[in-house]
Amino acid sequence: MFRGLQVSQLSVCVDNNPIINNISLQCAPGSIHALMGPNGSGKSTLAYTLMGHPSYSVTQGAIYFQTKDLALLQPYERARNGIFLSFQQPYVLSGVTWLTFLYESYKSIVNSIITYSSFLEVVHNYCALLHIKTEVLHRVVNQGFSGGERKRFELLQVLLLKPQLVIFDEIDSGLDVDTLKLLPLVLDHLTKACPDRIILVITHYPRILELIAPEYIHVLKAGALIYSGAPTIVSLLEQGGYDAL
Ligand SMILES: Nc1ncnc2c1ncn2[C@@H]1O[C@H](COP(=O)(O)OP(=O)(O)OP(=O)(O)O)[C@@H](O)[C@H]1O
Ligand SMILES: [Mg+2]
Repeated sequence: MFRGLQVSQLSVCVDNNPIINNISLQCAPGSIHALMGPNGSGKSTLAYTLMGHPSYSVTQGAIYFQTKDLALLQPYERARNGIFLSFQQPYVLSGVTWLTFLYESYKSIVNSIITYSSFLEVVHNYCALLHIKTEVLHRVVNQGFSGGERKRFELLQVLLLKPQLVIFDEIDSGLDVDTLKLLPLVLDHLTKACPDRIILVITHYPRILELIAPEYIHVLKAGALIYSGAPTIVSLLEQGGYDAL
């Protein structure tokens, strides 16, 4: 059986409104994909559905990851099975500091017996890589953080939790030019550490495609997949927009 991500004839509703209509796509282990499409086309809906957000109902089709039927797994089980969603708009977790959140996530997903001091060493190393000041780890998750700062912490979570399937929902939005340069560094780190890792990047901007060099592009329009194939399509998109497809 196929060991990557397999989305078959998937349809998704939110509050009984059909958003995704009969899409199929496949991501092989070790591949990098970009998902593009106009605003409101269903990209984040697909990301939430892969993660198992309870508001998104699968009305048709199936999703398999590493041969497991995701319909049988709760969001936390999907996380433990190596799926990670970097949010388009990361949430505030009132009353929970970054350190507590990251330590509990790390113990739950990566290493249940790591000591706090060893964890601190790991997290401090990744903070250095991402130019995050370690004092910030004592602040409440995303509370008062700027858009770009929140995205930087999404990158920190990816590095820490070492997911097998990484979904970046518009990681580039809100990032300044210097932070944007961290992206290839993080991707390089991820792919070298685990050659089987699948990376799915949702974006509007061709410039990010230059940084991540996806092997495949998928384009969603009004909930339907209208293109799945080589990245050569991007120049056409830049010139003619999505109507050119
Ligand atoms: N509760 C809801 N009821 C009805 N429609 C909804 C609901 N939630 C989301 N939608 C609609 O689903 C559609 C897809 O939204 P989604 O966030 O997946 O788009 P997107 O492709 O990620 O867009 P963007 O590029 O702007 O992030 C949108 O038209 C949105 O308004
Ligand atoms: Mg979106």
